[in-house]
Amino acid sequence: MTEYFELEWQKFQKTSEEAKLAFFQKEGRIFDILFARQFERKQLDFLSNLATKIRLVAKRKEGADYLRRLLTHKKAMLYFVQPSTRTYLSFLNACHILGIKTSDIRDTFTSSEIKGESSYDTIRTFSSYVDVIISRHPEKDFNQKAAWLLNSTDRPIPVVNAGSGKDEHPTQALLDIYTLHRSFEHRGGIDGKVITMVGDLKRGRTIRSLSFLMKEYKNMKLYFIAPKHLMIEEDLRSFLKKSRIEFYETDNFASVIAQSDAIYMTRIQDEHDNDKEKTQSSYDDFSFTYEHLSILKKDAVIMHPLPRRNEIDVRVDSDERAVYWRQERNGMWIRAALLAYIFHVEKSILDV
Ligand code: CP
Repeated sequence: MTEYFELEWQKFQKTSEEAKLAFFQKEGRIFDILFARQFERKQLDFLSNLATKIRLVAKRKEGADYLRRLLTHKKAMLYFVQPSTRTYLSFLNACHILGIKTSDIRDTFTSSEIKGESSYDTIRTFSSYVDVIISRHPEKDFNQKAAWLLNSTDRPIPVVNAGSGKDEHPTQALLDIYTLHRSFEHRGGIDGKVITMVGDLKRGRTIRSLSFLMKEYKNMKLYFIAPKHLMIEEDLRSFLKKSRIEFYETDNFASVIAQSDAIYMTRIQDEHDNDKEKTQSSYDDFSFTYEHLSILKKDAVIMHPLPRRNEIDVRVDSDERAVYWRQERNGMWIRAALLAYIFHVEKSILDV
């Protein structure tokens, strides 16, 4: 990135959140999908309902064929230069459900970045060939910066953040909301539920994005359960206070299991860690054990963004309250709904 762009980017970063929200919109719709706070309740409800419609339509061959014909003229770039299994595969399959053609780069060693091309020239090059860029990147601001940069070119195509460093994973938050939406649809919906998030909350981008979306729901109560050195950070704490969301922080997991409607487990994120010994040695108390099932509410759900290590006993998998495998499948449906929204074909789906 040239010095000129860097200075302009720094200026943009200093603008208000409202200005940023407006910048990443077009014609009153979200254009670039970059952070969870872009979504309001009406969009979350809409995308959840659209995902369900796509899921049901795709069950029948004629329905699947209909969906596959909707976006045959569109192409997507999957730029995943940080490891991924389910976000990559669910986006890939979501594209194929709607007939979108896909290309990918999964390692900068296989692109011209190895020859010294900047990642921003790389992004600009993608925009010469495709209609949407879906990007996972280790740098916090990379995806937002890429979207900002493309918006000043003659090919301002949408950028979708599929995970940005330790900061945000907004499409994971959408699938988490969709999973909560489905789990509680016969229990009065998400409003008023008690959600417990457990594990490495300091570096866990999924819990950050999901927590930001909690502002759209009424009377939520959140418990954050982590060892002190892995607790949520001040920016999220301030956001929750400002949004008047009731929340508590503790390291006593067992004390909140019985009152939780959803328990959201996360793994230790030690890819960001220089001191593995310290974090691993104190993590056993932040695991969901087989014995915990007996104190969990009968209609509660256990979630996990996956991948997991040992933080959920595999014997829990067969309990009907363990929804994490359904949760990862939900990712494909909500991402298909998001792509349908990005390319304005939602009406063609809802009218089927
Ligand atoms: N939940 C999630 O982002 O999984 P992957 O890292 O496998 O994509």
